[in-house]
Amino acid sequence: MSANSLVLGIETSCDDTSVALVARRGSVVACETVSQFEIHSEYGGVYPELASRAHLQAILPTVQVVLDAIDGDLARIEAIGVTRGPGLIGSLLVGVNTAQALGIAWGKKVFGINHLRGHLRSPDLEESRIDYPAIMLLVSGGHTLLAYLKSSAEVQVLGTTRDDSAGETYDKVARMLDLGMPGGPQVDRHAELGAPVIEFPRPMLREGYEFSFSGLKSSVARLLEREPVVNKHDVAASFVSACLDVLEAKLRRALKEYKPNSLVVVGGVAASPQLRECVEAICDEAGVKACLPSLKWATDNAAMIALATWDYMAQSAQQRTDPDPGLLLCDW
Ligand code: KG4
Ligand code: ZN
Repeated sequence: MSANSLVLGIETSCDDTSVALVARRGSVVACETVSQFEIHSEYGGVYPELASRAHLQAILPTVQVVLDAIDGDLARIEAIGVTRGPGLIGSLLVGVNTAQALGIAWGKKVFGINHLRGHLRSPDLEESRIDYPAIMLLVSGGHTLLAYLKSSAEVQVLGTTRDDSAGETYDKVARMLDLGMPGGPQVDRHAELGAPVIEFPRPMLREGYEFSFSGLKSSVARLLEREPVVNKHDVAASFVSACLDVLEAKLRRALKEYKPNSLVVVGGVAASPQLRECVEAICDEAGVKACLPSLKWATDNAAMIALATWDYMAQSAQQRTDPDPGLLLCDW
């Protein structure tokens, strides 16, 4: 392995076809992401069968674009890392099969990477930020998870959601308010223009580290049934305020109990300006380092998968007994 070795990352777990080349310390040599936004927007959500078909069309041209960035010099590619889950099964299969085929054709090892582990490393892309031990909040469309990270390899899950994820709740509220897709950023924009004058519930605010968002979502739905003519800006602002109060309470509790060096907030909802402001404020107050991925790396991308692959290779180099393990299915 030379100093300029790269990992080729592939991410196709949902509705973005993404391929990247990333060096061991996280510098991103190339990252190309093809969004399926146009395809799914008319359905108001991701249509799984159309997602896999679009991945199938986009994947090889996208690989080619990133290879062009290194003039097709395959010798620089140390290994391939691909999201193996969680995600939409048809979409994942496109990525995994492509990675396996390229691995065979090029004679490279292929590593199956947990998508959540990719998100977790996203703040270290381009600039190493995470200072361990850390508290990590993952808030994406598929997951809401709070964890204590002793190191990048040691993850202790403190709590997850019992029902909807935070991102899913943003998306559903956007749909109820007819704000269009992508839901999260639309809710943010409307919230900026309104005031949090409606009292929505703050589920599980005082209880441990678990989350529940379906009650909050239903409250928004009931309000809209009762009062069809409401100020959408105020509904969005009140929803964001309720959601952030819950996230903030859990984060403060975790900082107090675990006294970490940094607070890492990742996943699509980490692109929310309101959440970013809230995290910076909590961290300033607690004297803890705030680690937020840059906006570019908050939502799904293959660069974070490639960086997580480097971690996995470093770990398995110490532990591995099988010299040729083929596709390694890595879990937490
Ligand atoms: O991490 P991600 O790209 O995909 C998953 O792994 O799920 O997260 C997508 C989620 C969506 O629910 C989307 O509405 C939300 O992240 N999201 C946002 C923002 N940008 C994306 N939520 C709030 N504010 C944003 N600016
Ligand atoms: Zn994701």
